Amino acid sequence: MYGWRIPPPKTPCKSLAEFAQERSDKVNWLIEQGLLKSERIKQALLKVPREDFLPLQYRDYAYEEVPLPLPGEDATISCPHSYPLFYEPLGLDQGQRFLEVGLGSGYGTAIAREVVGAKGLVVAVEIDPRTFAYAKDKLTLTGYTDVVLVNADGGLGYSELAPYDRISVTAACSEFPPPLIEQLAPSGRLIAPITRDSTQDLILLEKTATGVRQQVICEVLYVPLQGIYGE
Ligand SMILES: C[S@@+](CC[C@H](N)C(=O)[O-])C[C@H]1O[C@@H](n2cnc3c(N)ncnc32)[C@H](O)[C@@H]1O
Repeated sequence: MYGWRIPPPKTPCKSLAEFAQERSDKVNWLIEQGLLKSERIKQALLKVPREDFLPLQYRDYAYEEVPLPLPGEDATISCPHSYPLFYEPLGLDQGQRFLEVGLGSGYGTAIAREVVGAKGLVVAVEIDPRTFAYAKDKLTLTGYTDVVLVNADGGLGYSELAPYDRISVTAACSEFPPPLIEQLAPSGRLIAPITRDSTQDLILLEKTATGVRQQVICEVLYVPLQGIYGE
């Protein structure tokens, strides 16, 4: 799977206490690495049980720094560090309207729901029907039912609930899909892995009064965006 070494499927045996310890250790590690700064993102990462978003045969690997396969074509749950990696530069915060393109497991959606809080909005779009059904089930089981889930091509955004203060794309594209820029609120931010030759850069785009400003965050490795703006 795109250069990652995936651990073998196995019968899960870790206890809830072990997962809670691993979750807390992971948050401390993310802070030490300088990836996690926001208190709201920290509290969300401490609260959401990542293991509940994993397929059973990969559950015990929930806090390992590796993307793991999900039902569907090219679908993965991203590495644990990916969430602060995307959400910190976005400045994801309370009360914002957030659009996620690439629902995957639903874990990033649950984290965002915690961060934006009751006054914010979370919309997540997934193109693959099997992945969509999986994530919807996981979000229901974990109690995250106050999110808008859409089974469609997220490259087109979701104009029905636009504009969005923050947009996160968790699949690699050759350029920012124009509908996403259009659906971004004034001063809004959009983050996505953008393919450059054979590598991908995580790029933050900010809508300014005169146009857009872009900043490269770091190199990343994501599954390709599908659909009309796919690679
Ligand atoms: C890296 S995974 C997402 C990880 C996810 N954020 C999580 O927390 O589990 C990328 C996802 O993007 C989805 N995807 C790819 N192209 C898409 C598109 N055009 N619209 C919506 N989803 C898309 C894939 O099916 C896959 O589920």
